[in-house]
Amino acid sequence: MLVDCGDFGSTKVKSEIFKVNYLLTGMALLSYDAINLGEKDLQYGAEFLNEVSKRHQLPFISANVYKYGTEELFTKPYLIKQKGNLKIGIFGVTTKSGARHLVKPSTGFEVRDPVAAAQKAVNELRQKCDVVIALAHLGLNGAKELAQKVNGIDIIISGHDTQRTQKPARIGKTVVMQMGSKGKYLGHLEFKVASNLISLVEGKLVSLNAKIPDDQRLAGLVSEFDKAFVSHYPLKSPKAIENFSLLSDRSCIQCHRKEHRQWSSTLHRKAWQSLIDKEQTSDPECLQCHTTLFKQSDGFTTVFETPDLVNVQCADCHQLTGGNPQEHINKFRRGRAAASAQTNGHADFKPIGEGTCLRCHNKESSPNFNYQEAFLKVTH
Ligand code: HEC
Ligand code: HEC
Ligand code: HEC
Ligand code: HEC
Repeated sequence: MLVDCGDFGSTKVKSEIFKVNYLLTGMALLSYDAINLGEKDLQYGAEFLNEVSKRHQLPFISANVYKYGTEELFTKPYLIKQKGNLKIGIFGVTTKSGARHLVKPSTGFEVRDPVAAAQKAVNELRQKCDVVIALAHLGLNGAKELAQKVNGIDIIISGHDTQRTQKPARIGKTVVMQMGSKGKYLGHLEFKVASNLISLVEGKLVSLNAKIPDDQRLAGLVSEFDKAFVSHYPLKSPKAIENFSLLSDRSCIQCHRKEHRQWSSTLHRKAWQSLIDKEQTSDPECLQCHTTLFKQSDGFTTVFETPDLVNVQCADCHQLTGGNPQEHINKFRRGRAAASAQTNGHADFKPIGEGTCLRCHNKESSPNFNYQEAFLKVTH
């Protein structure tokens, strides 16, 4: 059986929804047995989820997502699968607290207490099934708590936060497994069932790295997506930059020629080109680390509005202590001596530390990052 714990979705940006459509086409190709709904999926609203689940015949489940203001569940709370001579019941629940900000009444959804919903589902499934599986979109701690509070769950597949269990955890008689995020790992669980006793044979994480060959249908879908994405969100070459922002490297170059030259020789200066090469210049997921201060005040918004703020620039490492680069620049326009008198030991920029880099060089994108070594490559 193949199941998913929820959150195929991410943000409500249009280009992201475009991507989710392809993702769900891929999930349909893989013939999942059950897909739980996470809070990020719910933010797309009932209409969207109804439409995609019909179009792709997706087996969505949730025992605690209600149609807003009613006593009616949005979708089936559980599914019962016959495998050989076994009846296997799978139900899903999602986080209520995590949904508070994302799942507004306008989505048409209301998320209720996951523990009470799980108890109800288990009571019903235990009458009809040999094995009961929970898809718990509650985070690893939430899933362990569920195992303690609700008796009668054999297996919990959990998700929501990015943790992963190298080996399945055991809470009482319940086995709990979590796979991390972004499809990097497949959880593999094997059980033996004999005279009503179920026992774990093997539980492991399988890294979906380059050693695992691509499924040809999915590889085809990915290249179809890449082409469609670029034609939907075309990259026109940014207009010649006349009015650059004061935060951009062009504004610093006049006084910091040496630093600018060194910076230009690093890959930070080519981070935007990497997105062009991958045809992913509109994907907000990539923009946050390959442009300057994405979505922060005065930072990168789109390549049309802020063409001078592509790449990882000075301002990504040298963050102002005050709000405005103009003050720093004005100070020095009047000459260095006047400036140091004014500066009085007060720095205009925050000190650089490892945290400055980890915003982008996190475990996922930069697994071999070593601050001491990397520092030497970027200091000027
Ligand atoms: C008009 C000239 C001028 C411009 C434009 C300018 N700076 Fe400076 N900056 C200086 C001078 C002069 C110093 C003093 C240090 C020195 O002697 O080199 C300095 C110091 C700094 C320092 C170290 C001291 C501190 O306050 O933290 C950083 C970092 C810095 N500048 C970054 C930038 C960045 C980033 C930009 C572009 C947004 C920029 N500067 C634009 C002239 C300028
Ligand atoms: C805004 C995001 C961001 C920040 C902040 C950032 N980096 Fe990077 N860094 C990148 C990206 C993206 C690349 C890869 C660029 C590419 O190849 O497209 C990179 C590449 C590098 C490289 C390889 C560069 C080369 O020329 O060999 C080093 C080393 C590096 N970063 C060190 C640092 C250090 C040290 C800091 C903190 C002082 C830092 N980075 C801060 C995003 C960032
Ligand atoms: C959390 C920050 C982050 C995000 C999000 C991110 N990157 Fe990067 N990217 C980096 C850093 C840091 C490096 C440099 C890695 C290193 O050398 O350690 C890098 C390197 C790269 C490289 C050059 C090295 C390589 O692997 O070929 C490409 C291409 C790239 N990124 C594309 C993308 C695309 C496309 C996306 C969106 C799907 C993306 N990145 C999202 C931070 C990020
Ligand atoms: C990847 C991060 C990174 C980027 C991007 C970056 N710098 Fe730096 N910069 C550093 C580091 C690290 C130092 C050394 C600071 C220290 O020792 O604390 C430094 C030092 C400086 C200093 C001297 C500060 C002092 O206290 O003497 C200036 C000026 C400066 N940078 C300007 C710039 C300018 C201008 C740009 C853009 C063209 C830029 N930097 C881009 C990381 C960066």
